[in-house]
Parts: sequence; structure tokens; C-alpha cells
Amino acid sequence: MHNFCDGFYLKSRLIKARINAYGQTPLASFAVFYIVARLFGVSTEAFWRLNIPMSNSPLINNNDLWVICQLPEFTAQAQALAEQLNQPLKAGIDVSLLDSPEFVMVIGAQGVALQQTGRKAPGPIRADFAEGSVDHRRKFGGGKGQMIAKAVGVKAGVYPKVLDATAGLGKDAFVLATLGCSVQLLERSPVVHALLADGLARAREYSTYDDPELAQIIARMELLAVDSLNYLTDILEDNRPDVIYLDPMFPDRQKSADVKKEMAAFHHVVGKDEDADSLLEKALQKANYRVVVKRPRKAPFIANKTPSYQLEGKSSRYDIYTIKKMPEGLGV
Ligand SMILES: C[S@@+](CC[C@H](N)C(=O)[O-])C[C@H]1O[C@@H](n2cnc3c(N)ncnc32)[C@H](O)[C@@H]1O
Repeated sequence: MHNFCDGFYLKSRLIKARINAYGQTPLASFAVFYIVARLFGVSTEAFWRLNIPMSNSPLINNNDLWVICQLPEFTAQAQALAEQLNQPLKAGIDVSLLDSPEFVMVIGAQGVALQQTGRKAPGPIRADFAEGSVDHRRKFGGGKGQMIAKAVGVKAGVYPKVLDATAGLGKDAFVLATLGCSVQLLERSPVVHALLADGLARAREYSTYDDPELAQIIARMELLAVDSLNYLTDILEDNRPDVIYLDPMFPDRQKSADVKKEMAAFHHVVGKDEDADSLLEKALQKANYRVVVKRPRKAPFIANKTPSYQLEGKSSRYDIYTIKKMPEGLGV
């Protein structure tokens, strides 16, 4: 997951541990971390690739999330996650009996899950790539005929390098990787990043021996814990993606009746992506060929910007902003 030299990564973890030990506020820690990392010779671009928790996620600011370890063999993983999220670690708790805090991160035999508490709470949220609806779509979903493929410009002999700047649980990125694109996934919410990292790790582990095709798809996906706006600002010319894909949280989406209860919980944790306008502006400066924005079908354009063209589905649509024509043989 860290494709810069391991020495840098270890150094960064040490620096971060040091800063945490001094008990700084998250923002001060972040500033100190940046300065120290630069002193260690980490470039600004590499800095945004360091795996440090930073987010506008409401959970990180309010101390209202527990990390619950369900089995002793996951203690080390649970400890690491609790430290990363800066939240308390608990063990031996029956989550179904909890009323507070409102959300917990559960680590057990099925991986890492975000779980709402309380009697009427919906089911757990995990990132799953080897089973469920994502796996079904991979096998029976229509391949390059899918609307997302057309929106991104994938066809025989054209496999653009995609940067998914709003990774979420990685479903769209997985579809694109299934179609043959290499996809960089950027996620700024530490909670969502943890779910996604766990889903990818489990899929990698399972597929290595049991599903070589899935293993190749997962190998095309690279996850980074960063804010895309910062990352794109500092991206080097040579690293520019062919396509930037955006699916920001639509402010009214959580009220919509067709949002499943689980996803309403997810929206609650992530909050609203109020900075989507700036992200589109930045993406338009940094993509080589096009920017694709996924929106609810009736939603207004991001930043009031009319796209080059649109593709409409039953509940969502794609706004496509063309920068220049994609050449044949791209990514082959
Ligand atoms: C609607 S979800 C994306 C769902 C995703 N397309 C999928 O298929 O699972 C939006 C996600 O984008 C993330 N996000 C929004 N703005 C971001 C930014 N500037 N940098 C990184 N992540 C961002 C949010 O934290 C949230 O997890």
C-alpha cells in the first residue's frame, strides 16, 4: 500500500509516535509532523502519501467511537486501529447490548466493521470484494457495457489510469479495476479508510490462493489515506491520472428514502462533502483526459459547471467533463 521507500514509512511512523507521545492536538500534531517529515527529506507529494489519520469526519473530533476487539487473536490489529483513530480500545463486549457510543468499530473473524449501536441499529458495514453484491457485479454485471465504463472511457484497447478521489467503500473503483484499469483510491476519512484497507487486505489474502482473477484485480488497486484536494495540488506532472473520478457525498442523500439504513449510518459517519466544488475545479486542472462525476439523477451540477455530456441511469447519472480525446491503446 505504501509505494514509497519503506525507510520513509518507518521514519514517518516513528515521528508520528513521538508527536502523539507529546499529546499535541490533532492539528498541531499534523503541522509538527509535516515540518519534521520535511526535515527528514520527505517531499511534499510523498508527505500526502503518508498514512496519517486526518479528516473532517465528525467521529474523530468527538470522542464517540470505540474500537472493539472480538477475539484475542486480533488484539494487535485492534490496538493499531485504536491508536490510528485515537479512540478507546475495548474487548469482551457484546455489541448488541450497547446503546452508546453511537458507533463502534468491531474487529473479528469477518474483518473490520462499522456498527451502529442500539436496539434498532442496522447491520454492520464492511468493504467486501470477494462476496456479496460487489462480487456478483464482477461476475454478472455486464463488463464494458456498464454505464461507468462508458463514462470513464474504458473499451477494448483503452484502459485509462484512474484516480478515484472519493474512494468510500471502493465499489466503483473495484468495478473499474475489474474492467482492467489501474485505480488509485484516495480516502480522507480514517474510519472509511480503515474499512476499505481491511476489505482490500482480506480480498488479497483470500484471492492469492483461491481466486487468481480477483488477485489481479486487487493488485490494480492502490489505496492512500489522504485528502484528494491536497494530494492533487501537489501531484507531479508524471503522476497525473488519465481520468479523475468523483462521487462525493450528496448533501441531501441521507434523507432519501431509497438509501439503505446501513448506508444512512455510513453517511452519518462521513458527514457532507462540502468541498466538492473545489475538488472538481482541482480535478479539471490535473486530469489528462477527463473528469467523471457521479451524481444522484436529479442533483444539480457540482460547482454549477455544465459537463461536456451526461449519461443517465435509473437513480444516478454521470457528468463527463472532457479535457482532450483519449488515444487508442491507452494503458495497454
Ligand atoms: C459517496 S462516498 C464514495 C462511494 C464510492 N464511490 C463507492 O463506490 O464506494 C464519498 C467518499 O469520498 C470521501 N471524500 C470526499 N471528499 C474527499 C476528499 N477531498 N479527499 C478524500 N476523500 C474524500 C468521503 O470521505 C467518502 O468516504
